[in-house]
Amino acid sequence: MRYRSQAVAYWYFAVAMVLFGLQLVFGLLSASKYLGPDPLLYILPFDVTKMIHTNLLIVWVLTGFMGATYWMVPDESRTELHSVKLAYIQLILWVLMGVSAVIGYLFRYGTGNKLLEQPLPHKIVIVIVMLMFLYNIGMTIRKSGRFTTTEGVLLLGLGSAALLYLPSLIEFRNYTISIFYRWWTIHLWVEGVWEMIQGGFLAYLLIRLSGADREVMEKWLYVIVGLVFIAGIIGTAHHYYWVGVPHYWLPIGGFFSALEPVALIGMAIYAYSAIRRSGLAHPNVLALHWTVGSAVFTMFGAGLLGLAHTWPSVNKWTHGTLITAMHGHAAFYGAYAMIVLAMISYALPAMTSERSEGGSSVGFWAFWLQLAGMFGMTLSFATAGIGQVYLERILGLGYLDTQLRIQVHFVMLIVTASLFTIGAALFIWDFFRRAPRFDLIEDVAPAGAGRAGAMP
Ligand code: HEM
Ligand code: HEM
Ligand SMILES: [Fe+2]
Repeated sequence: MRYRSQAVAYWYFAVAMVLFGLQLVFGLLSASKYLGPDPLLYILPFDVTKMIHTNLLIVWVLTGFMGATYWMVPDESRTELHSVKLAYIQLILWVLMGVSAVIGYLFRYGTGNKLLEQPLPHKIVIVIVMLMFLYNIGMTIRKSGRFTTTEGVLLLGLGSAALLYLPSLIEFRNYTISIFYRWWTIHLWVEGVWEMIQGGFLAYLLIRLSGADREVMEKWLYVIVGLVFIAGIIGTAHHYYWVGVPHYWLPIGGFFSALEPVALIGMAIYAYSAIRRSGLAHPNVLALHWTVGSAVFTMFGAGLLGLAHTWPSVNKWTHGTLITAMHGHAAFYGAYAMIVLAMISYALPAMTSERSEGGSSVGFWAFWLQLAGMFGMTLSFATAGIGQVYLERILGLGYLDTQLRIQVHFVMLIVTASLFTIGAALFIWDFFRRAPRFDLIEDVAPAGAGRAGAMP
């Protein structure tokens, strides 16, 4: 650690780890309900467990983003954070919001708007927390007077993510209008501004880990972000096929969303070529696995599996089926879970005692088990989804009849999800098994360079 205030990141990461674990408990609970019998039917039905599963996902990933930003900004701007106290107050408020929202969901206190179920008071707290966060980061950069492109892309992503949350505060009585604006938050988050956040962390990690030239990396970052934007903004229309809006959205959505994978393929090539060209200048090979893994898995889960059902003539059959869950898991995991795990793996050796910089074998087991598990889960959802589309949508069988015939895929889901859970549990255990220790090291970075030698 080069700056004392970077210690803040540790506590954000610790909260993220706990919520990640909890998210998986609710995931397994949701999956097991597909197989039945369900002794918790009247206490914790599927809609509640799924809502908690996805909300915990969003909260832990955002906690990870905030922690990683508090780690990265001092490093990039070469200064202490503006206010450590504010960062801790923000974390406490955020945790209180998250915990009370989940307790509320147990008692059916939510808005029912998928992924944006947070009740209004919680939404207001979220906005306040985001403002505190952006203010703290903004003041830090202002104080330092050093603002890198990587940081700029990250901050633009974080600021826009906060802005795009605002439509979700308005309640619409008309279902079509409500759905129409819901995607301004959800789609423009995951296929727009969160990609900038991922891009910012990716560039930071690649510059540090591979020793790649900062100027080259940042130029490419612009290109990728530009591509995401061109395709992603109008690509929102791939959610406007069957929601009651005019037909012209069909070709628009199909065409622009089909362009989105181009940026994601670009991102994977960007990551791979950075390490090919510059090699390994940094001993933290585990963090490099997570970093390149994130770019490649995003190409697979978001790019390839997104493309698989984005064309209107395909989406007509697959909309709202387990095909969506197939893509949702692989995309979210690759792009946002893995990039947070990459930032944690990179920062952790500097924040805990006696941890080897190169990563332990537990760390590598955690990586490979999660990857294998998530790949298997994706295939399980895919095979279940194909069966579901064929039986229910093409042959016209009832929903429950269909579900009975695709049970084998849910057995496969539970098996592969258990593998994933072991990998996640190892990661969480590896995180907590060493006590935090925040030793400072000398800053030996040559001015203007982003070479890995800066982080011994
Ligand atoms: C133990 C591991 C996990 C299991 C067993 C699991 C299971 C499930 C189940 C059964 C659903 C409901 C699907 C439906 O609506 O029919 C679901 C939804 C979802 N899960 Fe997971 N999950 C796990 C881990 C994860 C992880 C690690 C992520 C992301 C990083 C994730 C992201 C999502 C998302 C985004 C949805 C909503 C998908 C949609 O609405 O179509 N899950 N999960
Ligand atoms: C990192 C990027 C991405 C993430 C995290 C992501 C995640 C998700 C999630 C969670 C859903 C379910 C949303 C809901 O029903 O509430 C979804 C739906 C969808 N995604 Fe993505 N996605 C990403 C990128 C893409 C890309 C690049 C494409 C197209 C090329 C795509 C195509 C679709 C389509 C067509 C749906 C609607 C499925 C339906 O009609 O049920 N996604 N995505
Ligand atoms: Fe989308």
